[in-house]
Amino acid sequence: MKIIRNIVELRQELKQYRVKSNGECRVGLVPTMGYLHEGHASLMSRAHDLSDLVVLSIFVNPIQFGPGEDYETYPRNEEQDLALADRQGVDIVFIPTVEEMYPTQTLTKIRVSEVTQLLCGSSRPGHFDGVTTVVSKLIHIVQPDQAYFGLKDAQQVAVLQQMVHDLNMNVEIVPCPIVREEDGLALSSRNVYLSSEERKQALVLSRSLFEVNETMVNDESVKASEVRERLMSLIQLSPMAVIDYVEVLTFPTLNRINDDVLLNDVTEKLIMAVAVKFGNTRLIDNMLLTPK
Ligand code: PAJ
Repeated sequence: MKIIRNIVELRQELKQYRVKSNGECRVGLVPTMGYLHEGHASLMSRAHDLSDLVVLSIFVNPIQFGPGEDYETYPRNEEQDLALADRQGVDIVFIPTVEEMYPTQTLTKIRVSEVTQLLCGSSRPGHFDGVTTVVSKLIHIVQPDQAYFGLKDAQQVAVLQQMVHDLNMNVEIVPCPIVREEDGLALSSRNVYLSSEERKQALVLSRSLFEVNETMVNDESVKASEVRERLMSLIQLSPMAVIDYVEVLTFPTLNRINDDVLLNDVTEKLIMAVAVKFGNTRLIDNMLLTPK
């Protein structure tokens, strides 16, 4: 596994690889902010299945954090990350510094409208501009055939698919399923912030999503607003949960559904998406509705 910290060197390495394989190889990019866990590992494993060369990037991207968010304290552990990447058979790990990615004042930003204006986009203004800008830089640097993203951040997938489509970027966005702990909690680098009591109460997120999916989705008379209200009331059973949003939307278009519309009458895929604070830690989770 090669560890590269510099853009010029990474480009040279990729060029050599492409020449050697007569341009026949598919390059897969897995962008991350590190503190890697099994959720990230699942993306690398999928990349292994579909791509010939796997490039993992580890970069805590300052421009996607808002003022007062956790950029400075975001968990980091390079040694552990490299060990996990090595176990997953990653070919190249790209670990740039902030100066390498943003050497001078940046005057260009990529902004996707509409799908960034709700859910995490409205709670974290500017967040998705930071994400689309850095992912677009990584795509320009690596020029991958595929880029892998987790549905844990379903809105991120929707936003990036829109960006790639709108800007004719020659890369396939590959969405990968959410990886959960055995008890249901979606894996996240931020889970380390949770106290043991918060960790226990955070289970309310996945439990509520699973319960609603089991009990309501196949009820022909259920309205989108009822799903949303049921989710809210289940989450509120946890005394520590402070709800940021609970939404039922079309996916990946992320349109709100009128309150009185029956779920059965919506022909698009639907997603239930929640963001809830436990203490100082904001967790997100979601589930695509799977009618049986
Ligand atoms: P990060 O939070 O490190 O996540 C990197 C990738 O791992 C994302 O695509 C995310 O959706 C995926 N992921 C995280 N937890 C997961 C889980 N439990 N199951 C499946 N996939 C999971 O998302 C980012 O970094 C950044 O915004 C980034 C895209 C790297 C841009 O800076």
